[in-house]
Amino acid sequence: MAHHADHDSDKQRQLDRDRVSPEGAELTTDQGIKVDDTDNSLAAGERGPTLMEDFHFREKITHFDHERIPERVVHARGAGAYGHFRVYDDALAEYTSAEFLTDPSLSTPVFVRFSTVGGSRGSADTVRDVRGFATKFYTRHGNFDLVGNNMPVFFIQDGIKFPDFVHAVKPEPHNEIPQASSAHDTLWDFVQLQPETIHMMMWLMSDRALPRSFAMMQGFGVHTFRLVNAEGRATFVKFHWKPKLGTHSLEWDETQKIAGKDPDFNRRDLWDNIEAGRFPEYELCLQLVPEEDEHKFDFDLLDATKIIPEEEVPARPVGRLVLDRNPENFFAETEQVAFHLGNVVPGIDFTNDPLLQARLFSYLDTQLIRLGGPNFSQIPVNRPVAEVRNHHRDGYHQMAIHQARAAYHPNTLSGGCPALSENGSYHHYQEKVDGNKIRKRSESFQDHYSQATLFWNSMSGWEKEHIVAAFRFELGKVETMSIREGVVDHLNHVDHDLAVQVAEGVGVEPPKVSNTPNHGRSSPALSQANAPRDTV
Ligand code: HEM
Repeated sequence: MAHHADHDSDKQRQLDRDRVSPEGAELTTDQGIKVDDTDNSLAAGERGPTLMEDFHFREKITHFDHERIPERVVHARGAGAYGHFRVYDDALAEYTSAEFLTDPSLSTPVFVRFSTVGGSRGSADTVRDVRGFATKFYTRHGNFDLVGNNMPVFFIQDGIKFPDFVHAVKPEPHNEIPQASSAHDTLWDFVQLQPETIHMMMWLMSDRALPRSFAMMQGFGVHTFRLVNAEGRATFVKFHWKPKLGTHSLEWDETQKIAGKDPDFNRRDLWDNIEAGRFPEYELCLQLVPEEDEHKFDFDLLDATKIIPEEEVPARPVGRLVLDRNPENFFAETEQVAFHLGNVVPGIDFTNDPLLQARLFSYLDTQLIRLGGPNFSQIPVNRPVAEVRNHHRDGYHQMAIHQARAAYHPNTLSGGCPALSENGSYHHYQEKVDGNKIRKRSESFQDHYSQATLFWNSMSGWEKEHIVAAFRFELGKVETMSIREGVVDHLNHVDHDLAVQVAEGVGVEPPKVSNTPNHGRSSPALSQANAPRDTV
């Protein structure tokens, strides 16, 4: 049975209503009819055929036949846990009206799901991949989802490329090989043709892609978001989770052995630690950028392939997340949880990052099919602790028995018609937008290498060795030589030494001259928070 932390939140009390236990119960059908034999189907005589009228047999088999739902199109493999978040003090009130970020007396219940990205639901945990770090805050003013990864940047700048990118990353379509690996032609073909991937590929080839434990992994909201205060003033923000235990990775060799011996390594570690009362903890840190500084950087804040170096904007610790309770049913909770970037509460808003904007469409859309229609927010794990009252009606899997005759707004027939709220409602930030409809972004979106170089230069000697070894291994599996050459050519824009070493390892002619101008930065040094200096 799952460990029950002392801390019992509103969310846990709400879930009690849905908890079903077989303890002390007699077996019944779905209609509540008691069953005395579930091993022998009803037949016409000792040696005769099974009878259609055996409703228990039919129901049992039918239910089983329909047990599967589609796995997530990405991030299919995951592990989840409940916990709670508390902000340290009220200092953020200057920036946001979000109550859970400004009231230190509040403990906000959360559900977190960690995941790998590329592999299927049954793939091994310790593969080289990005890890998802998605947090659902059940605040008193509705759900806020922070749907992040363990790396601070992303492969592409515009979500319209996401289907192309994922088709390239996933196993190849003709033979579904390789499962959960970054070593194949289609991925590297995409990389060579879309150099905006290069910064993220540096992270992916680093030990950050091999976390030792979910409790030893950072999380990043990646995009620039907005905080909005009570007066309606906005501040740009990047969200970071920093693990209390520090950031630690596995070694490549270890991951290979573990994937064979215990494919559930990270999932088991999370479960066991929570059962044993060793609760994973993370500190929420924010990088805050005043609106007037929007154009102060040599990159665009709307470009998800760029970090804001912490030397330029420090990450300010604001609160603590503790994961202290395992789910009780993997399917009901970890599989059916639906995170969505569009779930924001008053005080938090979006920016025009084109990757973010695409995600605002994609998550809800995919969940409509994955969770079977428009009522999935009624599934226990997704249900807000805040009250839900509206005129949405019917649809598959409707659980509510809506009262009243009129389901439209406004109406004079139902005394209970929900009123529009005077205060506490969500107001979209009134950003001034005025432009031509174009398919083009600011100039700095074209700079694909500066921050990749920054990342490389921040690595210690052995970290560089691991990155070179990873490129050699993954790229060395690519069958098409021109793709290997194309990637080496890009690496030569990042760092000449790196390109030469990779080229030598994958049978490509090493580049003769460096193609790495000083991209406007002389002594790049990422802070510990952004670079895996402390990986072991
Ligand atoms: C799922 C993160 C970009 C589409 C996820 C999950 C995470 C995540 C953590 C798993 C959620 C869970 O545990 O259930 C990110 C990050 C991104 C990114 C950090 C970039 C900064 C995108 C883009 C798209 C996209 C650009 C599409 C345009 C999806 C879809 C799912 C998903 C369809 C499956 C959701 C579900 O079935 O519930 N993503 N993602 N993601 N992501 Fe993203």
